[in-house]
Amino acid sequence: MVAVAILAAGRGTRMKSEYPKVLHELGGKSLVERALLSCASVNPSKQLAIVGYQSERVKASLTNYENLEFVEQKEQLGTGHAIQQLLPHLQDFQGDLLVLNGDVPLLRSQTIAKLWETHKKHQNAATLLTAQLPNPRGYGRVFCDNNSYVQQIVEDRDCTTAQKQNCRINGGIYCFNWQQLAKILPDLKADNDQKEYYITDVFAMMQPVMAVDVEDYQEITGINDRRQLASAYQILQQRVKDAWMAAGVTLIDPDSITIDDTVTLHPDTIIEPQTHLRGETEIGSGCRIGPGSLIENSTIAENVTVLYSVVSESEIEAGTRVGPYAHLRGQVKVGKSCRVGNFVELKKTSLGEKTNVAHLSYLGDTTVGDRVNIGAGTITANYDGVNKHPTAIDDGTKIGANSVLVAPVTLGKEVTIAAGSTITEDVEDDSLAIARCRQTVKKGWRLQS
Ligand code: UD1
Ligand code: CA
Repeated sequence: MVAVAILAAGRGTRMKSEYPKVLHELGGKSLVERALLSCASVNPSKQLAIVGYQSERVKASLTNYENLEFVEQKEQLGTGHAIQQLLPHLQDFQGDLLVLNGDVPLLRSQTIAKLWETHKKHQNAATLLTAQLPNPRGYGRVFCDNNSYVQQIVEDRDCTTAQKQNCRINGGIYCFNWQQLAKILPDLKADNDQKEYYITDVFAMMQPVMAVDVEDYQEITGINDRRQLASAYQILQQRVKDAWMAAGVTLIDPDSITIDDTVTLHPDTIIEPQTHLRGETEIGSGCRIGPGSLIENSTIAENVTVLYSVVSESEIEAGTRVGPYAHLRGQVKVGKSCRVGNFVELKKTSLGEKTNVAHLSYLGDTTVGDRVNIGAGTITANYDGVNKHPTAIDDGTKIGANSVLVAPVTLGKEVTIAAGSTITEDVEDDSLAIARCRQTVKKGWRLQS
């Protein structure tokens, strides 16, 4: 049995932020959320987050995690003090305690599973994740014997010049035999340069304590400032992109593309430069997305092209072409083999199959059928200043260029609207509607000067 505790009470002074450090975002999720998700693989029987600095904000951000218990650390007197706060919450707990730092967001869940496995296999009192870092500055240094049993951990600021040469660092990820830890927690002393209670001091009081090196040291990168936040993003992006390329997706100029780890792609799709895929997005096979597109929380079927466009909260079916410079936002559904062209904005609108909105249009709150042609510059006037109203356009209808459809209005099947019309009344099937002034021509007329 294992319980998980996430240290998330610190302020994170070096972020120079109004927000607590653990709420900073990395690829669409907060740092603390990433830490939480990384331990899902061990199926914890209890999950606790130690909160303190702006605890209300931190708690509010984690309301989706129903089984998460919050533990208040009113004053932040160090990582050891934070763990001491668990004592009343885990009084009868018999099992292991996994401790994660809320500011270490790149851990793979296999790594946590391996840490716990090693801990159990060797019946350790405590086991910690370590790494050999090319530049260990800022981290606690771990001193071990030849069998990886830990002898001492010294914080960077407490290290002598000789100790600083040791590149094996403490990742801040621990597995403890809880019963043993609980006994010695009250004995921690704030006997160091920062006058803080260090969790790392318990290792000298426990036996045996083992260090496990992570294979990929980038996993235990801690975030203390904005530069580290940016490099963690690079690492995350590299992982995501490598995985999609291995799965058969072409990324042209990967460095200029960003892909959230919540996105799903299918083989033989090509992602062009300067394209950003975010949130719960899925893109089918054979698509060409970009250059210069942003797709957010959207589902795109096979063989779709999206060129220099923004698509959010929308669904696009197979064979449709979008862009350049289209904007699909919020509950848009585009059917098969449609064309949504230059400078077209769609909001809460659905298009059937083989329908074209090719140039300079705005359709809002509109339901459009199959084989409809929306002429250049057609606008739905869906808002009367107070309420939004719907427009319906049935199959086979053709709207002439520069028409205004004043909602609520319904156009039937095979209707033709003359160019430049302002339509305020419903039009029935198989009709032509013309709603504009007749042209007057005065023959032989010239301006008199
Ligand atoms: C800690 C370790 C260090 C390790 C490093 C790895 C200690 C003493 N040192 O140092 O050996 O190399 O992590 O990243 O543990 N926090 C609280 N309450 C507090 C203080 C901190 O919840 O009173 C939380 C912070 O929000 C943060 C985590 O604990 O999520 C780590 O705190 P931080 O101050 O960043 O520790 P480091 O100096 O990085
Ligand atoms: Ca840290």
